[in-house]
Amino acid sequence: MASGVRLLVLGKQGAGKGTQAVRIARHYGVPHISTGDMFRAAAAAGTSFGLRANEYMTRGELVPDDVVIGVVAERLAKDDAQDQGFVLDGFPRTRVQAEELQRLLGPSGLDAAVDIDVPTDVVIDRISGRRVCSTCGATYHVNAPPKKPWVCDKDGGDVVQREDDTPEAVTKRLEFYEKDTRPLLDFYDGLGLLVTVDGVGEPDDVFDRIVDGVEAVRQLRLSSPSVP
Ligand code: AP5
Ligand code: MG
Ligand code: ZN
Repeated sequence: MASGVRLLVLGKQGAGKGTQAVRIARHYGVPHISTGDMFRAAAAAGTSFGLRANEYMTRGELVPDDVVIGVVAERLAKDDAQDQGFVLDGFPRTRVQAEELQRLLGPSGLDAAVDIDVPTDVVIDRISGRRVCSTCGATYHVNAPPKKPWVCDKDGGDVVQREDDTPEAVTKRLEFYEKDTRPLLDFYDGLGLLVTVDGVGEPDDVFDRIVDGVEAVRQLRLSSPSVP
């Protein structure tokens, strides 16, 4: 296992952020911090915060910036993230969130921003077949189901369709991606942190591309300290 990294993963809905963030977290020994998973857990626990966030999610809208930033700041302050690093999945999603993250981490606080690039028709197909564990959030697909029908391999939880994987919500989520999140690719490119990876192919192959890209950016930054 490689030791420590500070990464964020960008990409359209269904690009494979969650699928890859799990592998990245295991490889580098860092916590996987998914804002979507945190909101879904809070909603399942029935907290007023979770139920409020769930209203936005079910409609396919973004949860307000101040709410998301508060949750992420609190999570990043924990010892594991401070000591080993992190892989952020689904954050930031707006310019305001990206700027706030820079402020929280400081100028050299990120090793790379990984963009998993997948065409829109492919992500729509992936999302329509996606199934998730209602207990641990593990991701499956109708073409790659758990061993026992719709029971999670990891913890025996029920494997179900996500509430926001309806065609209406998916269309809206992809519109938010184009308007609010795609511009972040230029933002991170300008900081010399962007790693764009072809997200089509076997998940293990996509993962190898990600690690190669991250290590290349790290080496480049080590050898040119003037890069911000
Ligand atoms: P979130 O949970 O982050 O959802 P999302 O961005 O819509 O992304 P997805 O989880 O749908 O896709 P993914 O890229 O993780 O793909 P996956 O690995 O599952 O956010 C949900 C909601 O929370 C938002 O809409 C918003 O309301 C709110 N929210 C969260 N963060 C926020 C923020 N920062 N600001 C404001 N609001 C926020 O893969 C998809 C499918 O494809 C799976 O079935 C998988 O098995 C399959 N698959 C993966 N890789 C491959 C491959 N290489 N080949 C074939 N199939 C594959
Ligand atoms: Mg996800
Ligand atoms: Zn599970």
